Amino acid sequence: MSDDPSTHAQDALVSAAPALLGSLRLPADKSVGHRALLFSAMGSGAAEIRLDRPGEDILSMAGVLQTLGAVRSIETDTAGVVRVIIDGGGSPKAASLPGRGGETLDCGNAGTAMRLLAGALAGRPAVATLTGDASLSSRPMERVAGPLRMVGAEVATTNGHAPVVVVGRRPLLAVDHTLSVASAQVIGCLTLAALAAEGTTTITVPGPTRDHTERMLAWLGAPVRREGQLTTIEGPVGFDDRDIAVPGDISSAAAWLVAGALHPDAHIIIEDVGLNPSRTGIIDVLRDMGAEIRVASEGPTHDCPEPVGTITVDGGHPLHAIDLAGDRVADIIDELPLIAVAMAAADGVSTLRDAAELHFKESDRIRLVVDGLQAIGAHAEERQDGWVVSRGTPRDAAIRTEADHRIAISFAIAALAGVAGTVDIDDPACAAVSYPTFWMDMERLIP
Ligand code: S3P
Repeated sequence: MSDDPSTHAQDALVSAAPALLGSLRLPADKSVGHRALLFSAMGSGAAEIRLDRPGEDILSMAGVLQTLGAVRSIETDTAGVVRVIIDGGGSPKAASLPGRGGETLDCGNAGTAMRLLAGALAGRPAVATLTGDASLSSRPMERVAGPLRMVGAEVATTNGHAPVVVVGRRPLLAVDHTLSVASAQVIGCLTLAALAAEGTTTITVPGPTRDHTERMLAWLGAPVRREGQLTTIEGPVGFDDRDIAVPGDISSAAAWLVAGALHPDAHIIIEDVGLNPSRTGIIDVLRDMGAEIRVASEGPTHDCPEPVGTITVDGGHPLHAIDLAGDRVADIIDELPLIAVAMAAADGVSTLRDAAELHFKESDRIRLVVDGLQAIGAHAEERQDGWVVSRGTPRDAAIRTEADHRIAISFAIAALAGVAGTVDIDDPACAAVSYPTFWMDMERLIP
């Protein structure tokens, strides 16, 4: 399949690959890319953010920062590497966003952009309206609006959803937050608001989450500490900008780790990929199922706060069923649709519990994963907080993605690895939300 977007207007047909061989570098990590751009706009000074072939969500964040006047330039080289020069809006004394107020900020499909921006805008004494596409406009926003009101911002949602109007204030109040949902987006939102608060803010969450916000802000010199499930921020505070090179996205690598683990003839090397320990659960899960995966990690570098490295997967090993629940789920929340495909190839009955958050992602991922698995011939049953999956008889299927990138990618991988017959993906272009070169990389790995 070509990577020309015009071919993506139609469905994509995917069938089993004879083999999957080769090495890849992946587009910029969505979570790290969002933060690199936004935090630079809140710092003082200027920074270059380097993003290899960023997905549409990251570009939505860059577009918002352009509207706010924080982007000096955006240049793309012939290899697709995008360099964004950000002019920080913060005074040396306190982190804040630039812009006069009154802006409408279109976050597209990006939940991370909308929730992080809500927190950043809460400390800017001006009004802004956050909007998004149909999927984003159906996702819950009171989880950030409620705590932001407690710290003194005026925040209006539309029946709990976007558009979200934020009227910021400075200084904000320092509060001890205890969240009922362990969400990195909510922690990130409240951490950014806490940078503009007078005093010590604490955020306690009920389980583990990815720690990109705390890691990057500490690396930039802000007094933000994460100890287990407690984040502490001393405000008000500013920080200097630094150039940041965003690593490849391990959530995109997950597609090839699952494909490689499932395919009988696979040898795939993924280079320059982010290996933050709060994101590598996919490797542990696949290894526990019997996959052969090797990792070579290097620590953070002068222009990246995240560990980065190379992952190699070799196919041809039978996979066993797995039961996933509890704290383990947070590290793999975005990979669960792909893990469901691995479960449908394994010996035995696999279960997922404690993953009710999947209902609130870019689609209702519990429903779409179970529908898709049943369509490709696997045994799958929906549970309120997960699913029960075992192997069936692979067959051809039409896959409804509801424009969810992870659903499109997961069922393309199912077909490629032979867990399905030929699948017809209704909206292949949506893969570009996180992984714009997915279809091209697929072609590269098929000999
Ligand atoms: C993200 C956090 C996760 C994840 C999302 C990106 C982030 O969501 O699903 O794709 O960058 O903070 P939660 O905030 O619900 O954990």
